[in-house]
Amino acid sequence: MKKIALVTGGTRGIGSGITKALHSAGYSVAANYNSDSTTAAKFHEETGIPVFSWDVSDYEACERGVTQVCEQLGGTVDILVNNAGITRDSMLHKMDVSLWAKVINTNLNSVFNMSRVVIPAMREKKFGRIINMSSVNGVKGQAGQTNYSAAKSGIIGFTKALALESANKGITVNAIAPGYISTDMTDAIRDDIKAKIVETIPSGRFGRIEEIAHGVLFLADEKSSFVTGITLNINGGQYL
Ligand code: CAA
Repeated sequence: MKKIALVTGGTRGIGSGITKALHSAGYSVAANYNSDSTTAAKFHEETGIPVFSWDVSDYEACERGVTQVCEQLGGTVDILVNNAGITRDSMLHKMDVSLWAKVINTNLNSVFNMSRVVIPAMREKKFGRIINMSSVNGVKGQAGQTNYSAAKSGIIGFTKALALESANKGITVNAIAPGYISTDMTDAIRDDIKAKIVETIPSGRFGRIEEIAHGVLFLADEKSSFVTGITLNINGGQYL
């Protein structure tokens, strides 16, 4: 029987690349999205991958969403990729409290919500893979991103703690810290700032979505059973 993988924020950006890679590798995949139903419908049409809408920052919505995925795909979630994330960049002295809360809720509280919902079945099954998207900016910090860096750094602590709780239950919990990857999110950065960022990347370019998806496939693999609690940097050598 095919393993079931669920990718949050799985219809756009890095998430869509992860969803497609897991699908091509033979997993039964579901993609969650929040509000962009036009993009999600187009993604479903192109790939045939089922899409499900709920807000990952809402715990009860996660419970309902996962139940729906399990019913439709016929099993429990074997692989959870906590990918959904947003930016609301601003220097702290100009940051409205709502920008702080929005990013912490969407990027960090969502990781608790989704993991808390799926982990009982993984423990029962004695198998699971939880893969959390952190960021180079969670590892090193980034001016203009106190909210995002705090959330992405928090994800690393969460990953290590849950890895320790889960290692003897056949469940691995790992993080990936992507560097700057070409997506809508990084397209939104001002061109002059983007040019300066590229200068700090030893590979001399932004990364590609497929380069992150490749890391997910590695961590999701059954053969990666002895890899847990790590943060896999995929960033072209930036700030190593
Ligand atoms: N380090 C230190 N100080 C910096 C800085 C830096 N990297 N960048 C800007 N500043 C300082 C400036 O020197 C300036 O200081 P003064 O006021 O004393 O002159 C001050 O911050 C304001 O700079 P801006 O003119 O840029 O201010 P702004 O309000 O127009 O813009 C900003 C602020 C929106 C945060 C903008 O600087 C920005 O977009 N920065 C890039 C942030 C970034 O890298 N985001 C990543 C998004 S992609 C992502 O997050 C994916 C991932 O995981 C990698």
